[in-house]
Amino acid sequence: MATAAVKMIGVVGSGQMGSGIAQVAAVAGFDVWLLDSDPVALQRAEKAIAASVQHLVSKGQLSQLAGTNLLNHLRYTSSLEDLKSADVIIEAIVESEVIKKKLFSELDRIAKVSAILASNTSSISITRLASSTSRPAQVIGMHFMNPPPVMKLIEIVRGADTSDEVFITIKNLAERFGKTVICSQDFPGFIVNRILMPMINEAFFALYTGVATKEDIDTGMKLGTNHPLGPLQLADFIGLDICLSILKVLHEGLGDSKYIPCPLLVQYVDAGRLGRKRGIGVYNYQNRSPLAKPLSSL
Ligand code: CAA
Repeated sequence: MATAAVKMIGVVGSGQMGSGIAQVAAVAGFDVWLLDSDPVALQRAEKAIAASVQHLVSKGQLSQLAGTNLLNHLRYTSSLEDLKSADVIIEAIVESEVIKKKLFSELDRIAKVSAILASNTSSISITRLASSTSRPAQVIGMHFMNPPPVMKLIEIVRGADTSDEVFITIKNLAERFGKTVICSQDFPGFIVNRILMPMINEAFFALYTGVATKEDIDTGMKLGTNHPLGPLQLADFIGLDICLSILKVLHEGLGDSKYIPCPLLVQYVDAGRLGRKRGIGVYNYQNRSPLAKPLSSL
């Protein structure tokens, strides 16, 4: 399928990534269906997208009419059947290979024959996800960075059987979304997380072994290397559970002890300290918006 033929995009999963991806696709002028089995999550996503679009309108980056049109191009559903006309379906659900494979096999059953199935996975093998479908040549990784409306990058991951045609279509689509594309082969963690997660893990080891306080570790990397957030703040932003699961994928997939997750990271996840989304991670955000900056040191 050529990119010009892509008219309708389905996004599965309405969390921060899925709703952000749906917004990016609608801003680029596509008809979008956002699907989630949880109606409460869908309502939350609808409100978040409307607020984000209103912000763009209030800043003059979008006219009121364009904002209204954009919201009209977005539809919300809990029924997979509504995705049967989609040309591209982007999966952005929980980072579990078992659950994603089940979804891919269901999408394969309902999606039209020409549809491309893309995954926003941050580290799970595209080749293995593709194996749960009858169309492995049409399965590809399309890894957006968090938050999708703000971050300029999409990492495209080619599975073992992804066709050249599908790769080119998705590369062009990502560019129509206004993003810069990098291409990775299908190895654990791809490019970004292969490099980012060892840095975050090392920051946890520095904290765990008493090298420095969390504030000094973060300030060191923010001001010393010009990162917008320090590695521990970034881990809280991404979600400590997500960081841990990516490190496990790197450790299991590459078999190198350098990827063994820091025990302190494991303990925080065990304690439910998952980062901003839970109000507490390395830092304490309680009684504030989950997207707010840290309230205080613990
Ligand atoms: N959706 C839409 N817009 C958002 C947003 C969201 N979720 N979060 C922030 N923004 C917008 C704000 O509205 C604001 O826009 P304006 O300037 O137009 O007003 C702008 O982004 C800046 O936001 P803030 O002023 O609130 O806060 P900030 O200056 O601290 O920036 C940030 C927030 C852009 C998230 C910044 O902290 C940042 O760049 N952090 C690093 C993010 C990063 O590294 N992401 C990659 C994580 S790794 C990953 O995603 C891969 C993986 O698989 C784990």
